[in-house]
Amino acid sequence: MPRIAVVPGSFDPVTLGHLDVIARAAAMFDEIHVLVVHNPGKTALIPFADRVALIRSSIAEAGIRGAITVTSWSVGLLVDYCTEVGATAIVKGLRGQTDLVYETPMAIVNRDLAGIETVFLLPNPEHAHVSSSLVRQVNSLGGNVRPYVPAAVARFLRPNQE
Ligand code: PNS
Repeated sequence: MPRIAVVPGSFDPVTLGHLDVIARAAAMFDEIHVLVVHNPGKTALIPFADRVALIRSSIAEAGIRGAITVTSWSVGLLVDYCTEVGATAIVKGLRGQTDLVYETPMAIVNRDLAGIETVFLLPNPEHAHVSSSLVRQVNSLGGNVRPYVPAAVARFLRPNQE
């Protein structure tokens, strides 16, 4: 049986920190599904389809290898997708204590709902301060987001400057 994991998130947009976690997860599991999911607590900036396309080009440009599917899910619980594709684990990055506090209840609920375990990976400390919300804020105020995001995302957000 292949070991399949889902790497879910809003990815609004995908950052270098996300890419680092995706690369680590791809090396640990036989197959991973990077899944763009709606977070009911957040208002999105980038449409779902563009987020999926940006993750695909970022993975390709970074040369991340492995059996990686990138898609989106908007019709139910995250664990419903996991069950549908035979995934036994969810992988999330943990940048620090705040992330742990935010992620712990979701991990427990996902285990209660469907027996899916969550695996937390520590990303490269270089990316510890990087978040999609920070990128959105810097971008909306005209700042340079290139240090925090893959080139494909920088091109998408600031087409006239890349
Ligand atoms: O990148 P994010 O915003 O931290 O990702 C959070 C996300 C999208 C993975 C989470 O909000 C989620 O799982 N949403 C799907 C709805 C769901 O399954 N909720 C029950 C589990 S808490």
